[in-house]
Amino acid sequence: MSAQESGRDRRVTIRELLEMKRRGERIAVLTAYDFLFARLVDEAGADIVLVGDSLGQVVLGFDSTLPVTLDDMIRHGAAVRRGVRRGLVVVDLPFMTFQVSAEDTLRNAGRIMKETGAAAVKLEGGDEKAAEHVRAVVRAGIPVMGHIGLTPQSVHALGYRVQGRDEANADRLRAEARRLEEAGCFAIVLELVPSVLAADITRALTIPTIGIGAGPDTDGQVLVLPDMLGLNEGFAPRFLRHFANLAEETRRGLAAYISEVRGGTYPDADHSF
Ligand code: KIV
Repeated sequence: MSAQESGRDRRVTIRELLEMKRRGERIAVLTAYDFLFARLVDEAGADIVLVGDSLGQVVLGFDSTLPVTLDDMIRHGAAVRRGVRRGLVVVDLPFMTFQVSAEDTLRNAGRIMKETGAAAVKLEGGDEKAAEHVRAVVRAGIPVMGHIGLTPQSVHALGYRVQGRDEANADRLRAEARRLEEAGCFAIVLELVPSVLAADITRALTIPTIGIGAGPDTDGQVLVLPDMLGLNEGFAPRFLRHFANLAEETRRGLAAYISEVRGGTYPDADHSF
């Protein structure tokens, strides 16, 4: 039985995600940041609901993920968890909560697990130090999702552009993916990497790859919810498709409300006591 067929009340497990890869079934991942949208995402059947630190831009209005705090992630992670009955909830470790030491990473991952009820954490990077910190968290029984390619917490070092275009960098990303798998990650996000490289990495791993701007051949796809619903106007990277136009729909509703209040037609007798 696939994770999709398994029913609303049965939670998606890491074992099921690994089996989905083995069977060649695609994994659908979306971000969420609050209770109501988390409930919609979960009811729609997303296998993983990611509380991304993209929260910084799409909820808090910062121009990067860097100002997001651990308390921000815990507050929103717990709200999302309350809205999700089936999907596997993963919460991002924000900037400077996992870079310093393995001990720090474990303490912060532990707070996320205890205070949100999430099933896993995600952290960025694939060098030796990142792998050592992943190992410390996994050893404590906390599942970790990796994230390589364009890692937004390093935006000032990398810029916002496709990673791994030349052979040396492609080789580095291949090595990072293998290192994270060996360190115990249960899945890896590949962000903004050429499709051919993403396909190559996906074939080389036994754990699922989840792509964003990484072409069609990863084991799953993730998009940032307000981006794919057409709410984040002005953000239009090539990989993004709008699956709805909520900004337009919201504008229509708001204009109708304001016009009816001003015209005295709302509330009418049907909406009064
Ligand atoms: O923060 C986020 O939303 C993410 C996804 C883009 C993968 O890390």
